[in-house]
Amino acid sequence: MNNFIAYNPTKLHFGSGVVNDLGINASQLGKHALLVYGGGSVLRNGSYSDTLKQLEEQGIGVTEISGIKPNPAVDDVKEAVKTGQEAGVDMVVAVGGASVIDSAKIIAICIPDDCDAWKVMTGKHEPSGALPIIAVLTLAATGTEMNAIAVLQNHETREKIGFKNDLLYPAHSFLDPTYTLSVPSNYTAFGTVDLIAHSLEAWFGEGDASLSDRFVVSIIREALEYGPALMNDTGNYDLRARIMWAATNALNNLTIYGRSSGDWGVHALGHVLSFLYDTPHGATLSILYPAWMKVMKMRAKNRIEQLGLELFGKSDVDETIKEFKAYFSLLGSPVKCADAGIDASHRNEILELMNKNHAEGIHHKLSDPEREELLTYVF
Ligand code: NZQ
Ligand code: ZN
Repeated sequence: MNNFIAYNPTKLHFGSGVVNDLGINASQLGKHALLVYGGGSVLRNGSYSDTLKQLEEQGIGVTEISGIKPNPAVDDVKEAVKTGQEAGVDMVVAVGGASVIDSAKIIAICIPDDCDAWKVMTGKHEPSGALPIIAVLTLAATGTEMNAIAVLQNHETREKIGFKNDLLYPAHSFLDPTYTLSVPSNYTAFGTVDLIAHSLEAWFGEGDASLSDRFVVSIIREALEYGPALMNDTGNYDLRARIMWAATNALNNLTIYGRSSGDWGVHALGHVLSFLYDTPHGATLSILYPAWMKVMKMRAKNRIEQLGLELFGKSDVDETIKEFKAYFSLLGSPVKCADAGIDASHRNEILELMNKNHAEGIHHKLSDPEREELLTYVF
């Protein structure tokens, strides 16, 4: 087991009605909030009005930024930074899924630092601080509510990348599963795929950490058991709650302690599909994970066998890959590019960008020929 520091400063409020505590907590952090949200789902599911009420009741000023897109763009973050600076905000409140929360995280760094958001993302600007971040999560998937990661894309450089820094932990995150009842079936499935993919990225990372392994297996078991049940009953609060909590734990460090890294190769590959075709994040992962495992059949043989035995009671590698594929299909998430509307004519374009962006894992590096092989499995 590697040395590690266990650290997670986010205060997570979980359950029905927890947003009622947002105002009092926000009042201890600032006087004027930049309220960030996306295309309007939060206006329909009550999360926006509940949050606004909380802020107003405490006399906290509010400046709004809306229109953050799924697969969020750095240009929108830059615009929001300007608005926040002009208004003199001293905290950022994000209401929505990870696209909104990730954007808010970088906005929170750039407002006080007056810096370029892409320079932050690419590590060319070392942030000196950040405004406090409050997140109201409305979609269970990424774990952004309790981690130090933000993912943005840049149309100029043709990249979608992640950035990690302790300043990005939200001070408070409010997770009321009620707000997720309105998430449509497709995004419900993508979120469940994403939480499994985060668990797998940890599993295929570097280092021997048995307790972290057991957390991975337990989190995936939650998804295997409750994911299909939720797809059949998307209005079920209890199932929404189970998947929401599983998603948080899949990427809040719990599965990483004792390892030197996760892998993240499939995420890097998936970001290329999201960038090129605006494919939702989870959909890229259900297409690519089984294909990646095929490529890694020999290199990661022991780990795939061990995982298959734990989850499906079989150690055969091909059987395990089949199980994951069948499960993703059962949820209704794509397992081939064609299922996501990407036809074979795009294959070279995808390969080119994957190679150009060196889409590969930290532990299991991919060569250009391996990426080419991988694409034969998804078309
Ligand atoms: O824009 P609005 O109208 O809000 O609609 C959103 C959006 O269209 C909608 N939605 C959200 N909550 C809803 C809802 N619709 C109905 N009812 C609700 N309660 O869902 C759509 C997708 O939202 P988005 O925020 O994009 O989804 P998600 O939370 O899955 O975030 C995906 C982004 O997170 C990044 C991905 O790459 C992608 O850009 N990731 C972030 C990570 C992190 N910060 O730790 C790690 C992940 O691996 C991932 O890379
Ligand atoms: Zn992910």
